[in-house]
Amino acid sequence: MSESSTEQRPLNVLILAAGLGTRMRSKLAKVLHRLDGRPLINHVYRTATALAPKSIFVVIGHQGEEVKAAVLDEAEGPLAVFVKQEQQLGTGDAVNAARNHLAEIDSTIVVLSGDVPMIRPETLAALVQHHHRYSETGAAATVLTVRLNEPSGYGRIVRDEDGHFLRIVEQKDADEEQKLIQEINAGIYCFDSKKLYSALSAVKNNNSQGEYYLTDVPELLRRAGEEVAIFQYSDPQEIEGVNNLAQLADLERLIRRRTIWRLMTENGVTMIDPKNTYISSEAVIGSDTTIYPNVFIEGRTRIGSGCTIRPGSRLVNAIVGEMVEIRDNCLITDSEVGDGCTVGPMAHLRGKAVMVKGSKVGNFVELKKTRLGTDSKASHLAYLGDATIGEQTNIGAGTITCNYDGKNKHETHIGNRVKIGSDTMLVAPVIVGDDATTGAGSVVTKDVEPGELVVGVPAVALRRTGSKDDESAG
Ligand code: UD1
Ligand code: MG
Repeated sequence: MSESSTEQRPLNVLILAAGLGTRMRSKLAKVLHRLDGRPLINHVYRTATALAPKSIFVVIGHQGEEVKAAVLDEAEGPLAVFVKQEQQLGTGDAVNAARNHLAEIDSTIVVLSGDVPMIRPETLAALVQHHHRYSETGAAATVLTVRLNEPSGYGRIVRDEDGHFLRIVEQKDADEEQKLIQEINAGIYCFDSKKLYSALSAVKNNNSQGEYYLTDVPELLRRAGEEVAIFQYSDPQEIEGVNNLAQLADLERLIRRRTIWRLMTENGVTMIDPKNTYISSEAVIGSDTTIYPNVFIEGRTRIGSGCTIRPGSRLVNAIVGEMVEIRDNCLITDSEVGDGCTVGPMAHLRGKAVMVKGSKVGNFVELKKTRLGTDSKASHLAYLGDATIGEQTNIGAGTITCNYDGKNKHETHIGNRVKIGSDTMLVAPVIVGDDATTGAGSVVTKDVEPGELVVGVPAVALRRTGSKDDESAG
């Protein structure tokens, strides 16, 4: 068998992502719209990397810099090569934009559409294998197709009476009979690079849309006596394209359903109302964790086992330990909550806030870039920013770290077993030593020594815990 010659050819991927996406009725380029929290282009790019190709060419145009940034945000490794399509003259013209890179090399090219995000690497690998093994020499082009009950909108596959490929007819160019064809073009292909580019030179734009269609290439190759293969795939959901926001919402729902199903059946996560729970496919959640409705778990959030997440909370790239209770309506972004902590209701953790084991944050408390130590509490109405708080410390209601002087941010450090009285203002930079106490309403402008009690505005020392004064104070 001659699989050797073709299968050893380098594999390159070309992703078409230059279009505006007029049917989205949006200012944002289509491939930048988000699915499962990530731009469409990132889904396709990640799938492409799983094929381990030599390079991944991304054709950019409309909002090209933003598309490039989105890919680079995703990219691991130097696989991405960006090529610019100056004017969006059609999918054939988009492929042509990479001519200088690909036309002269012996390579197999997988062409992907930036707006077909669900395709799996396994399916692409099977497509490539079909392409290489199609005949003695391998095919010049292989088209990925699928049969749909409602094929409207897609290019249709026209076969001859023996079932061989004849041509692809776009919806807008199809006659009534062709519109009845249920086999559609997925917008995903495998090509021999040299043959692709030689046929592409002959593509014309004499069609209803005045565009250079990539879909004309397989027919041109067939007419030139080349082998054109069809790889018919069975799962229509995988090749669904996103051309409008309703289709995007459909895919979102599909991914969400799969994620939630997996978490329930494989991870033992209890969902009170799965239909009204929103969880990123990249989130990890442990067993015996219960999630109430209207909870959003986004990005790469990790939640341990035995936790309870009450209604209305949103966690974005959060790390939550075991046996944590997150009460109603909390927002936790880029922050950590340790084992056995309680958060909320209505608390806000952000900017790498860390709650250490057993600590508690209550209602209307905000933590920004702050570490709350083991078993410490801030139970009501507080802003704690750029601060470290030791163990078993109590932060009274209404406490504020005044961390911003109008120009710079300053830090507050509070020790272990400290009692910060209600309504204390901590004017940073400031340090409060272990076992110290601040009186209600004090404005702390200077460091407080360990064991000291300070009161007033500005706060002054009254006594030292364990000193004679302390004893006489009884
Ligand atoms: C295309 C196919 C159609 C197929 C469908 C599958 C053509 C002519 N038609 O139609 O047969 O059934 O995909 O989803 O190819 N793009 C560019 N530059 C351009 C135009 C498009 O980069 O000048 C990119 C878009 O950003 C998009 C992809 O190519 O990612 C497909 O373009 P789109 O306009 O969505 O093509 P469809 O009408 O969906
Ligand atoms: Mg499309």
